[in-house]
Amino acid sequence: MQGRIFSLVLVVGMLCSSAAVADGGSVYSAQCAKCHGADGQSDTPVGKAMKAKVLAGKTWSQEKLTSVIRENAKHKSVTGKVNDDDLAALAAFLPTLGGGS
Ligand code: HEC
Repeated sequence: MQGRIFSLVLVVGMLCSSAAVADGGSVYSAQCAKCHGADGQSDTPVGKAMKAKVLAGKTWSQEKLTSVIRENAKHKSVTGKVNDDDLAALAAFLPTLGGGS
């Protein structure tokens, strides 16, 4: 019985850690799209009201992105919601937003 509980805990633990591998696209839609828009044009009502900058067509290093998210007061609402893995995934994802027409 105890063995079974142990393996259950192990399996749940494994599921959780695999879910923790950040996917830039989902982090973006969950945390950033509200202001920056699904396509990075920052033309959502909140994005316009806050004068969020267009993200499409640009690339940020993980270091630069980390300071933008952690130090720019406009990002106060998301600062605590993205960890280093999320920021790495976002740095890889942002360039895929495309042309920035
Ligand atoms: C609450 C609205 C809001 C959310 C949510 C938000 N941002 Fe921003 N973001 C802004 C605003 C406003 C600016 C412009 C800041 C300024 O002018 O100082 C900005 C600027 C930026 C910049 C700098 C753009 C440039 O050209 O200098 C980057 C990069 C950025 N955001 C990425 C993100 C990422 C990645 C997320 C999700 C983790 C995110 N933002 C979530 C409002 C938001």
